[in-house]
Amino acid sequence: MTPSLSQEFLAFIDDSATFSTKVLAERVLKESRRVTNAEAGSIFIVRGRGAKRQLEAVSLQNDAITTSRKLFVIPVTPASIAGYVATIGQMVFVDDVDHLPEDVPYRFNRDFDQKSGYRTRSVMCFPLKTPEGRVIGVVQLINRLVGPEEGRIAKPFLRSFTEIIGVVSLLVGRAIERIEALEQIRERNKRLTERNRELKAERRRVLQLSEETDRALMLSVELLARAAEVHDGDISSHIQRVNEYSYLMAQLAGRDHAFCDEIRWAAALHDVGKMSVDQAVLHKPGKLDEREWVEMKAHTTHGMRILNGHPRLAMACDIAYCHHEMWAGGGYPRGLAGEAIPIEARIVALADVYDALRSERPYKPAYNHDRAIEIMLHGDERMRPESHFDPTLLALFGKHHQRFADLWTQMAEHAPGPDATARAG
Ligand SMILES: [Fe+2]
Ligand SMILES: [Fe+2]
Repeated sequence: MTPSLSQEFLAFIDDSATFSTKVLAERVLKESRRVTNAEAGSIFIVRGRGAKRQLEAVSLQNDAITTSRKLFVIPVTPASIAGYVATIGQMVFVDDVDHLPEDVPYRFNRDFDQKSGYRTRSVMCFPLKTPEGRVIGVVQLINRLVGPEEGRIAKPFLRSFTEIIGVVSLLVGRAIERIEALEQIRERNKRLTERNRELKAERRRVLQLSEETDRALMLSVELLARAAEVHDGDISSHIQRVNEYSYLMAQLAGRDHAFCDEIRWAAALHDVGKMSVDQAVLHKPGKLDEREWVEMKAHTTHGMRILNGHPRLAMACDIAYCHHEMWAGGGYPRGLAGEAIPIEARIVALADVYDALRSERPYKPAYNHDRAIEIMLHGDERMRPESHFDPTLLALFGKHHQRFADLWTQMAEHAPGPDATARAG
């Protein structure tokens, strides 16, 4: 091996991590041609496995003509010179492609010469191998030129090149193997990064869709609650305030974020069942008779039927169904007691009564905060708080009542007008 070639190739091995296969192939081919005086040449890399193995041209060089940029593949079979070398893993010399020995399985493919007008005469073709002896590429050198610059002629390649090539084959093979492995890792990383990006975009899209769905649900809920209010004849901000009191109470009771966020809109639907109650009963001034009370109380069951069956509305459904149940029992529609009443309904019951006390109703004036608190905590002729409310919630309400007063004040500009005739619900 000449010193320059050996040094050059050793340098490849050292630098190979920074090369691509193509760059390394270009340099190996150039150096191999320089050492052997080859006019042209190509390097192929083995791609695929088993019967699908192919030789992919990664570098083409020719001093006589401009080679096409279009690279090509040939199958790994003994039918071509490069294919044969890749198959048997040994070097082949062809001194004259027009006079191939009778006993070789390969033929010289004249397509390239015919298309380009180039004239191939001698060939030297050797494999690039891994240390384990696996062929991972083939170098094909063409036309060893001798003679003066103007009249150079193609002669057979010297057999003494064999010695050089043995080492080159191994060193370059090992370098290419390492580069290929690195390229595969880079390629895989690129694919993973790409996939990651796709997944992130997908997640964003799903999130966006679910936000849109949520917004649509919120809008439907608001419209439904409004429709119930209009039917009820109540144009106040009662339902918004009940939402906010319920949200505050849920937080005071230590419920988690999801619960608090949900009750903040679900509470608005507590009287949605009033849409199915006869307006004559809803707006009747004075006392209701027994039949009318039955009709009125049925708003809880109607509400449950309207909201039933969808998991996203489960809390709203529980509230609509149970907000007139009482802690000690005796409420409606089922007469549940204690913790058998869902906590969200116990919260809304409290919020609903406080707001009704602060509001003007046909059967009562609007009370100020102190009077409302007095009734909530100590009762009056119509209500006994200890049997009405969950005592834990009531204690929290008593402790933080000022915050409920603040909410009323903040939202009072929409307080009931003189035509609000609805009964406390
Ligand atoms: Fe109600
Ligand atoms: Fe209400």
